[in-house]
Amino acid sequence: MTQQPLAYFDNAASTQPMHVSMPDAIWGNANSPHGQGQHSKHYLLVAKTSIANLFGMTNQPDSVLCVSGGTEASNMVLSGKWDLVLSTQMEHEATLRTLKQKATAPASILLPNNTDGCIDIPASTVLIRNLKQKYKKPVGVLLSVIWVNNEIGTIQTEADLLLLYNELNATLPPGSKVRVHLDAVQAVGHVPLSLAPNGNLHFVHYISVSAHKWHGPMGIGFLISKDHTALNPLLYGGSQQGGLRPGTEPVALVVRASLVLHYVLSHLADAERAMQKHTTTIRRALEPFISNGTVLLTGHSTHRSANHLSFCVKNAEGKDIIAALGRCNIAVSSGSACTSNSNLPSHVLLACKIPAAYLYGAVRITSSMMTTTAEVTRLCRVLILVLSHIQGKSLS
Ligand SMILES: Cc1ncc(COP(=O)(O)O)c(C=O)c1O
Repeated sequence: MTQQPLAYFDNAASTQPMHVSMPDAIWGNANSPHGQGQHSKHYLLVAKTSIANLFGMTNQPDSVLCVSGGTEASNMVLSGKWDLVLSTQMEHEATLRTLKQKATAPASILLPNNTDGCIDIPASTVLIRNLKQKYKKPVGVLLSVIWVNNEIGTIQTEADLLLLYNELNATLPPGSKVRVHLDAVQAVGHVPLSLAPNGNLHFVHYISVSAHKWHGPMGIGFLISKDHTALNPLLYGGSQQGGLRPGTEPVALVVRASLVLHYVLSHLADAERAMQKHTTTIRRALEPFISNGTVLLTGHSTHRSANHLSFCVKNAEGKDIIAALGRCNIAVSSGSACTSNSNLPSHVLLACKIPAAYLYGAVRITSSMMTTTAEVTRLCRVLILVLSHIQGKSLS
């Protein structure tokens, strides 16, 4: 039997690399004074300026700290000079584990959430107001939130995030430094994102992003930072990037990441529409299974990433569903790729109080701007067969 071509629906884990034509060989050390080094330095500056511009930090290349990926970007900002970090229970491990490093981590509070993955604003407001009793002198406080959740696709609204930021400013003693960090790793290429004074994230000070989530290369990510003063280096070495992130900059990776980002963001509106169409088609295929309770959709129904569909299947194992689709060369996942070796239920699903019968049956289907309608049709056909089989088994 001939193998069908791969239909790839795991774009939240990583994306298919996009071909872009690159400038001539870029290999000199950007810190070397000779021509080859200066050639690299020029490309690095152009690429960082382009990335800064695309995220609304117009002509501020120094706001772009080149790091290895989203994990390092978030580690860096969370390990800054903070007295307190407010975050959520639904963060990626890159945040949760950093906050658990007792030796280095500041005090932290995890804000409560609703079952749809949105922050519970009334309960969080009460928690924030209670800080008035605790802090009498100016403090450094970071609000760090996963903007688009990697497992359930929920997007925290800008209005809610701004409200929490304003509440912190109103509660903490005058002179306190309140900063906002968004883990925007799953947002780029799916949601418009601008840190500009008139942008949708004007009140945000830092974002973590990772190029392999937008069809760029693996091993390069960026911490976009409006103000480096609270940041500490995680590594010690040379004076690159002001000593904040020493090590020779991987110029070719940065250039490639910036070119792909430019392409992806200039096609965002069309891509979002196409991905929404795919998601709606897959959701329709699930409809009979949703109405009889076999499938439970997870995350928020409307505040969610257009490319993302997540659900749990009753009394099933997500890994069996993934394997069944995999036999037809269709790639989906059960949640976060970073925790896929764990047999424990996802901390995000637990935080969303997903009923026990569904907890192990998580499936995540994420498309990209490269996904085709033919791939979606094939996925739906196979998914219906797999779910009908599971349903039949649990009825018998
Ligand atoms: C929301 C989120 N944050 C952080 C990361 C870590 O990014 P990276 O793999 O680039 O270190 C991921 C990766 O899946 C993610 O989905």
